Amino acid sequence: MLDLGSRLPLPAQHQPGGWLTALAPMQDVTDLAFMQVIAHYGAPDFFFTEFFRVHAHSRPEAHILRSIDENTTGRPVFAQLIGEDLNFLAKTTRELLRHNVAGIDLNLGCPAPKVYKKNVGGGLLREPAKVGQILAMLRENVPGLFTVKMRIGFSDTENFDRLIDLVNEHRVDLLSVHGRTVKEMYRSEVHYDFIARAATRAQCPVLANGNVTSARRAGTVLAETHAAGVMIGRHAIRNPWIFRQCREQFSGQAVTRITLADVRDYVTRLYAATRSPEIPERNHVNKMKKYLNFVGQSVDGSGAFLHEMRRTESEIELFTVCDRHLLGDPSREFSPEPYPGVIARPNCETPESGTDGCSLETITH
Ligand SMILES: Cc1cc2nc3c(=O)[nH]c(=O)nc-3n(C[C@H](O)[C@H](O)[C@H](O)COP(=O)(O)O)c2cc1C
Repeated sequence: MLDLGSRLPLPAQHQPGGWLTALAPMQDVTDLAFMQVIAHYGAPDFFFTEFFRVHAHSRPEAHILRSIDENTTGRPVFAQLIGEDLNFLAKTTRELLRHNVAGIDLNLGCPAPKVYKKNVGGGLLREPAKVGQILAMLRENVPGLFTVKMRIGFSDTENFDRLIDLVNEHRVDLLSVHGRTVKEMYRSEVHYDFIARAATRAQCPVLANGNVTSARRAGTVLAETHAAGVMIGRHAIRNPWIFRQCREQFSGQAVTRITLADVRDYVTRLYAATRSPEIPERNHVNKMKKYLNFVGQSVDGSGAFLHEMRRTESEIELFTVCDRHLLGDPSREFSPEPYPGVIARPNCETPESGTDGCSLETITH
């Protein structure tokens, strides 16, 4: 097992040599409010911000900075960047390092055509030489932790080994690998064999990412890949207890059973945390539906909760549906895995829509 404690800021309760957990960066999701809600139910070891866009006229977005400056979760937050221009990346890095970041993370994975056509995010995986220049520049400009989140390739895995070698050459401190190519978007099988290959080849700890649906599944993925930990995205929206459950699973304790009444509590907390006075109620209800699309995958096997929830138009309607489905039999178990066939619609990968193509509008599973 790698010595993770020497450079990574691990929380006090982290077992030496134990597996790591991280909340995956998610645009329009992993803001301050969401991180605080997750922390309430059991924080991961690390958080990552949604990406800061870096271009000629960019300044670090104020709402993303809040997730760093006002972080009260007790867990470190890495600031993620997406961009390709060395000077602009260096400038943004310097600005972000003035804030209380755990480190700087580079996005080498965003699969939205709008993004990769600008040769940023996943688009960069086609150009290892350019990736090398960016990694060299970031390593030089980041005295502390510098991390990378990547997919396994653009349309194939031809550059994979070369990319991992670059990660080694530029002394990246932590590598998160989403086991899909850019072209595979979000729904294909996850290629855990490539995550295993990264864990063997990379000299830094590797986090396994992609369809880690439950604590049990996290255990299987770690056994299969020998990664240093897991990074979890959509399944933490569905089940905010997942990091606590992972810790229980990893240390051989009984995994906490979640009931529908617990989920009702989560909905209330999430509603209050993400509500802002400027947003009309109807819009906030629509925003809630995007989170609940994931939650509904574990409420019932028929999709009845999702069906009714999607038709609500006001706070009172939304909570009436929640009460009916979550408090009718409150001690019933919230399924640790999504029920088969219960899909978090809209399930289209319509990459041309949405602001950057990485948003809850376009990426659900
Ligand atoms: C709504 C949404 C937004 C995302 N935004 C980002 C992002 O800003 N940066 C990033 O590196 N990955 C982003 N991703 C990808 C996730 O970090 C993660 O790699 C992916 O969802 C696979 O993990 P999962 O199966 O645990 O969800 C996003 C994913 C979703 C669903």
